[in-house]
Amino acid sequence: MKRMMTTFAALSFFGAVAAAPALADAPAKAAGNGGHTYPSIEKTSADAPKQHKMSPEFMEQVKKLPPEFVQQFKKMTAKHTRYSEDATARQVMAELLSDVQCTTAGLMVENGEMAADCAIRASRHRWPKGHLLAYVKLEQINADSLAALPKINGQVEGGLERVAEFALKKDFVSAGAEMGKVMEGCATCHSLFRFGKGESPYIMD
Ligand code: HEC
Repeated sequence: MKRMMTTFAALSFFGAVAAAPALADAPAKAAGNGGHTYPSIEKTSADAPKQHKMSPEFMEQVKKLPPEFVQQFKKMTAKHTRYSEDATARQVMAELLSDVQCTTAGLMVENGEMAADCAIRASRHRWPKGHLLAYVKLEQINADSLAALPKINGQVEGGLERVAEFALKKDFVSAGAEMGKVMEGCATCHSLFRFGKGESPYIMD
């Protein structure tokens, strides 16, 4: 019985976070479903987030988040309407890195269209399996630790949108300066939430 309740809670929390933006974006999605659209930011492996049964410890932390925080979080992430059925956060991050590198390559050779496409794709990266929150430490799932996210999000995802705008206007100097702030945002988030960096268990000294 306890187990069933945990499952239900997981569904309602993630459903609420992820389903609302999908509904809001229904027309854009319908257009993208018939075939590939350009740029490829509409492509995804799943049209709706798959509901996963999360561990009781995880759900306990999530349920403690204040409702205002959850609302703000939903709003902040509303533009992410691509969901992966199996990509981990690390895999999505590799995709993000690749798109960011593509953006900088475009800026350096003054190809504004290339830079803008890649920046928008990066800005709307797909959700990993089970939501990004599933990949941070349990003790970091609380309003205090996560309070840093809106600023970081504005710097990274908002920044990438500004990079795209500058790039399309062929203002590569401003785009480059904005790109610096984007990277600062990546690094800030990593210093707070990235752990398990793949250290070797064999190196003793
Ligand atoms: C909201 C916080 C956050 C932001 C912003 C963020 N990352 Fe990450 N990133 C993470 C977390 C958490 C991990 C570790 C995931 C794991 O190991 O499960 C990670 C891991 C990575 C990794 C994998 C590193 C490894 O050791 O395998 C790469 C690459 C990466 N991020 C690139 C980026 C880039 C590029 C940006 C900026 C455009 C960025 N990230 C922005 C949270 C973030």
